[in-house]
Amino acid sequence: MPVVKFTKEKKEIQVQRGSNLRQVALAAGVNLYQGLNGFGAGVNQIANCRGLGFCGSCRVLITKGIENTNSMGLVEKIKFRVPVPDPLPSLAFIGHEENMRLACKTQVLGDLEVETGPEVDLFGENFFS
Ligand code: FES
Repeated sequence: MPVVKFTKEKKEIQVQRGSNLRQVALAAGVNLYQGLNGFGAGVNQIANCRGLGFCGSCRVLITKGIENTNSMGLVEKIKFRVPVPDPLPSLAFIGHEENMRLACKTQVLGDLEVETGPEVDLFGENFFS
């Protein structure tokens, strides 16, 4: 059985192959809804699309094992690449095109390491230089 390791939470769980990442995270008590760099996390926990792929707030980084996930479907591609009406998921996706996924649209097909609530660099790394 695949092992999913949530690095921030220091939690490792065994899951059935083909499990939905959002469902296994929530069942394990892992908070996927962490707002924008922590801001709005409380609202996010209530105001999310419950796994339909529409809100983009369950985004995670697959830090190891991206090859052990299903490929991105149309809904997920649109959420990350079309910045309207909500530009935040698209902004967060920049620079993480290879390993950012919506947990609700990700199937676990093998071992994964997952970073929940990845920070969004709103100002760019050279903003103050
Ligand atoms: S829960 Fe809304 S996009 Fe995943």
